[in-house]
Amino acid sequence: MTEQIYVRETQPIGRIAPEIYGHFAEHLGRCIYGGIWAGEGSPLSTTDGLRDDTIELLAALDPSVLRWPGGCFAEDYCWEDGVGPRHDRPRRRNLWWAQGRPNETDGGVFEEPNEFGTDEFMRTCELLDAEPYLAANVGTGTAREAMNWVEYCNSDANTAYTRRRIENGHEEPYGVTYWGIGNETYGCGGNYDPDDYGRDYRTYATFIRGLERSGCVGNIELVACGFIEPDWNRRFMETVGGKSIFEHTTLIDHLSVHRYISTVRSTGFTTEQYYKSLARCADIEADIARLTETLAEFAPSSSIGIIVDEWGVWHPEATFQNGLEQAQTTRDALVAAACLDIFNTNADMVTMANLAQTVNVLQCVVQTDSEEAWPTQTYQVFDLYKDHMDSMAVRTTVNTGLHELVSPEQDLPYVSASASTHESDVFITFSNRHHDETRTVEIKTEATPNRASAEILFAGTAVDKVLTAANADSFTSEPIDVDVENEGIYLDVAPTSVVGLHVEI
Ligand code: AHR
Repeated sequence: MTEQIYVRETQPIGRIAPEIYGHFAEHLGRCIYGGIWAGEGSPLSTTDGLRDDTIELLAALDPSVLRWPGGCFAEDYCWEDGVGPRHDRPRRRNLWWAQGRPNETDGGVFEEPNEFGTDEFMRTCELLDAEPYLAANVGTGTAREAMNWVEYCNSDANTAYTRRRIENGHEEPYGVTYWGIGNETYGCGGNYDPDDYGRDYRTYATFIRGLERSGCVGNIELVACGFIEPDWNRRFMETVGGKSIFEHTTLIDHLSVHRYISTVRSTGFTTEQYYKSLARCADIEADIARLTETLAEFAPSSSIGIIVDEWGVWHPEATFQNGLEQAQTTRDALVAAACLDIFNTNADMVTMANLAQTVNVLQCVVQTDSEEAWPTQTYQVFDLYKDHMDSMAVRTTVNTGLHELVSPEQDLPYVSASASTHESDVFITFSNRHHDETRTVEIKTEATPNRASAEILFAGTAVDKVLTAANADSFTSEPIDVDVENEGIYLDVAPTSVVGLHVEI
């Protein structure tokens, strides 16, 4: 059977913000400690305490933006604990990620040593060439603490916080653009109701905006915590100021949402469970649609964007007790491909997305042990898709078979796709999600294609093959034959595989 993808390269959707290909790292399990940070004196090769192997892998992905320090952790974090000489920094509890566990287990630190703080995070971003995105504490913090953090990072005025940064070895302000006001404020961020969060948000935003105008470098973009419930978001927007305020002020630059795709099991899943987990990607698309409606209602003439600042697969084996670690299979990578297609296709609204979490935790892109670091299957998808960054997303229509699930609305299209253009290059990414069958995929562009080349991921790999350090090399992409004819481009695409196709028109 032939699957068809029609690419309308003359119908732009919007620029694909590079930040859509962003990541998220929290003080949770082995993400920061052990995964990114080894500390000075580690036997591993490090740069300023950061693991060279991890940094090298991450840097090769061009990670546009890195969100930190949480997550739930952000809402119990005092940023001042994490700056200055390391030996003077206080050791604290790690409230959210210590439940029921001993203080330290092999490689995982559940008390917070504060060895990795703001300046270490900024150094990480510098080595990765990634924009920093900081989440300020609303639940147990104050607007003043958040302002002081902004001042420490962004001010070049002659003030105590600026001098502190300089004393800590950083003469130039960091000029951090992205500031999140809290994390999951409807849940671990304080179980706020939307009205109370709206009032607190307005206070934080007003004062940070004021500070921005007095001695800070760079533009600040403020991220408000949204929720998957539209009523919650509406009440929040109403309290921040209602419809009129967004006409005159920029109290909100982005409204965020989190979406995890839960599964029944990480490995040894049935074919039906495989299809069902892929079908859950539609939830992210529905979240974006609902937030788009709310923004159209409250801020029709503003440019408030949508950030999905935590997303990914969350298997049941990832628990508090094991620091949210889970096995990685190719199925997870197919979920990532589908979600990235959704973000690309909604590039007019989605301004950032951050996969949870960068190293070792949940749907990480890199895994480590005490000796080495290796890329996951999801890493390979990010690597394949990175040519979309900063290109123009264009309309695509997919004419594909459907795998029947419980109801027609939930049926899963066998093919997921998205496309973007950059000068005369059209870049199309697509997956054949059929569990067992190779499918011929026909791609039609409006203009006649001159030439085309493609890479494929996971062809000939069982979709439930579990990643290990030893087999990580077997998931890299390989060239695939492309047949270019006047009327279309044809590829025979193996089951459960992902393709990146460049077409010159
Ligand atoms: O990513 C793990 C946790 O999931 C984050 O700390 C929290 O924001 C979310 O609920």
